[in-house]
Amino acid sequence: MTEQPVRYEAKDGVATIILDRPDVLNAMNDLMRTALLEIFTRLRTDDGVKVVVVTGAGERAFCAGADIREFLELPTPTHFREARKRIDFRAEMERCSQPIIAAIRGFALGGGLEFALACDIRIAAEDAQLGLTEINLAIIPGGGGTQRLPRLVGRGKALEMILTGMRVPAAEALRIGLVERVVPVADLMPAAQALARQIADKAPIALRYAKEAVVGGLGLPLADGIRLENDLATLLRTTEDRVEGAKAFVEKRKPKWTGT
Ligand code: COA
Repeated sequence: MTEQPVRYEAKDGVATIILDRPDVLNAMNDLMRTALLEIFTRLRTDDGVKVVVVTGAGERAFCAGADIREFLELPTPTHFREARKRIDFRAEMERCSQPIIAAIRGFALGGGLEFALACDIRIAAEDAQLGLTEINLAIIPGGGGTQRLPRLVGRGKALEMILTGMRVPAAEALRIGLVERVVPVADLMPAAQALARQIADKAPIALRYAKEAVVGGLGLPLADGIRLENDLATLLRTTEDRVEGAKAFVEKRKPKWTGT
């Protein structure tokens, strides 16, 4: 039977993606990249899933980065041409309308941290260690790390991390804005699932537009971002759910969203 490097579960509007190669600290090989690309491509059109949680199997790592064993042979030109045809799964994550939460325990290094950086919200366990360690292998981050890290922690901190390959512990990651929350190890998945649930219970179209406004706007000049926000906010005024939200408030009851 072929090794399945990623597990996927979905329940009540929350999908959980588990990197599942614990023997090698969930190191990312080509099979795992392909599986993630398929999953995120499918999720883009899956209205049944409201929120996504990603995590690593086992107790030691979210993901220890690219599978270094795949570096032992120099790639051929054919390999590069094939690789150029592939879409980066992280680009597919950007196109997902669902918020994506990373639940990080243990190591999140190299491509593992880049995966977490492509998520929308990061929760770390107290034992987490995060770093872009590629420089130690004579390479640089190639999965968006040099672009997404400075946008989160600023130019100086990003360069300090990328040039030294240092590992940042959870408490420091929280201080510099690399993660949004730190929780005890035992609370990691409950906290991630509770946050996912809290988000999934909101009105579906508003959720989608909120992410689009923030993520889309970050890549735009301020005036264009404000315009995008305005367009999306105006569109939301046409939904049934907006009327339902107001009615539920007045009637002092929980709203029943229909996604229309
Ligand atoms: N690729 C392939 N295998 C990896 C791996 C990776 N990125 N990271 C860990 N592993 C494997 C180890 O080879 C080891 O396998 P083995 O038991 O068959 O020897 C197993 O996972 C456990 O790792 P180990 O190194 O024994 O654990 P440790 O506690 O001593 O160290 C790390 C943990 C994360 C510090 C260390 O494994 C490490 O530095 N990994 C590489 C991280 C990295 O540079 N990632 C970026 C790649 S671009």
